[in-house]
Amino acid sequence: MTTTPNKLTIIQPDDWHLHLRDGTTLSTVLPFTAAHYGRAIVMPNLTPPVTTTAEAIAYRERIIAAVPVDSDFEPLMTCYLTDHTDPNEVEKGFLEGVFTAVKLYPARATTNSDFGVTAWDNIRDVLARMEKIGMPLLVHGEEADPDIDIFDREGAFIDRVLSDWMTHDYPELKIVLEHITTKDGADFVREAGSNIGATVTPHHLVINRNDILTGGIRPHLYCLPIAKRETHRQALRQAVASGDPSFFLGTDSAPHSIGAKETDCGCAGIFNVPNAIEVYARVFEEMDALEHFEAFASFNGPNFYGLDANTGTLTLERVQQTIIGDIEIPGANDSIRPFLSGESLNWSVVGL
Ligand code: DOR
Ligand code: ZN
Repeated sequence: MTTTPNKLTIIQPDDWHLHLRDGTTLSTVLPFTAAHYGRAIVMPNLTPPVTTTAEAIAYRERIIAAVPVDSDFEPLMTCYLTDHTDPNEVEKGFLEGVFTAVKLYPARATTNSDFGVTAWDNIRDVLARMEKIGMPLLVHGEEADPDIDIFDREGAFIDRVLSDWMTHDYPELKIVLEHITTKDGADFVREAGSNIGATVTPHHLVINRNDILTGGIRPHLYCLPIAKRETHRQALRQAVASGDPSFFLGTDSAPHSIGAKETDCGCAGIFNVPNAIEVYARVFEEMDALEHFEAFASFNGPNFYGLDANTGTLTLERVQQTIIGDIEIPGANDSIRPFLSGESLNWSVVGL
């Protein structure tokens, strides 16, 4: 990384957790990712979800068809784990280079998780196979038991699943605890072996639960796992600022139309990708940890996945910008509102 007080040049980053959707939404949101990131782990929670090698190949082709011509962006595909996932299908997809990882959604934990896992015994054969072949398991780490308070679901998942049996029964399994939101999540990952990592989103580094609920309800700050109290946000900021290689960039950018967010039962998800890299830069600067920014954005993720880092670079300059407003979805008579729309940022991307 080359830094001057007003300029940061880093190896091109990747996004290790991204929702791209399909159809017009895909073609609307993808250029924002392709403008900054070399690769992204693409979440499989379409309706219906991506559960087979053939579906992943077809989805990858639709994504590649939507990549702007001047971009080399590469989507990395994932397999949605269900009660009926066949270990042979997972292994075939991994060995053929179609699946990079498997995504675990506990059933009913979040958006499009209805096909997720209902009983842990149903996935033991798949986990054993993944451990054997070195294939990462990406975990939506929230206990879906409705008796658990929504703010306690990440901690409950760590206690009841990760600590209780998963890391014990499959000690070599590569696990990414996605979008951590708590001190418990950060501590668990820090204390675990190098086969366990975590993605951290820009929004969970910036907002706490007061921001969602004080002075009126803010549907555009609602996502799952929901942002927690301030002490947890501080723990996440310290985790990334520490330079621990277990933590890496994953935006969890999850576009929903304004109509789907501003309604009686609004969708969970924050569309942050247009300015995510600048928001991360601001956080590292505020933490006086800019020396760890590049590893978080560009090296820790590929190292975890056993991939080479990108070769190109991305440059940010200390140039003030205002985050763009609503982005129209062509033909839908609706738009997507970016995270922090209308607010000011002190860093801007000036080129790849
Ligand atoms: O807020 C979220 N939105 N959390 C998830 O886990 C899913 C995502 C989505 O797909 O909208
Ligand atoms: Zn997600």
